[in-house]
Amino acid sequence: MIYIVAIMQPGKLESVQDALTELGVTGMTVSEVQGYGRQKGKSEIYRGAEYQVNFMPKIKIEVAVPTAQAGAVKDAISTAAKSGKIGDGKIFTFALKDALRIRTGEAGETAL
Ligand SMILES: Nc1ncnc2c1ncn2[C@@H]1O[C@H](COP(=O)(O)OP(=O)(O)OP(=O)(O)O)[C@@H](O)[C@H]1O
Ligand SMILES: [Mg+2]
Repeated sequence: MIYIVAIMQPGKLESVQDALTELGVTGMTVSEVQGYGRQKGKSEIYRGAEYQVNFMPKIKIEVAVPTAQAGAVKDAISTAAKSGKIGDGKIFTFALKDALRIRTGEAGETAL
């Protein structure tokens, strides 16, 4: 199993959610977060301006998927979240050791 964490522009959540539903992803976690990347939250750099970092509002989604589905899920998130402008976000991928569905006791991929 793979755990995918994607940070994206808030306005892209709906299209990402639609794309993942289309793929048959059964669950996801969404958080409102703040962050910055290479531009440090600035769209312009002023000459002589004081060095300052601004946190920008972003959406973080987390989704656990079977390994066989991970590539398609990453592609779908990337396509749905892309505008081509700075700040589109990033996708981080983790190996997921286990999952447990608390109500039923199912473990592993069947718990997803
Ligand atoms: N190295 C990182 N580690 C953790 N989170 C990051 C990292 N880089 C970016 N993020 C998160 O992703 C959000 C979007 O990053 P962003 O897309 O601006 O990255 P970037 O490297 O500056 O790329 P771009 O040049 O396309 O803007 C950030 O606000 C932050 O929440
Ligand atoms: Mg950036």
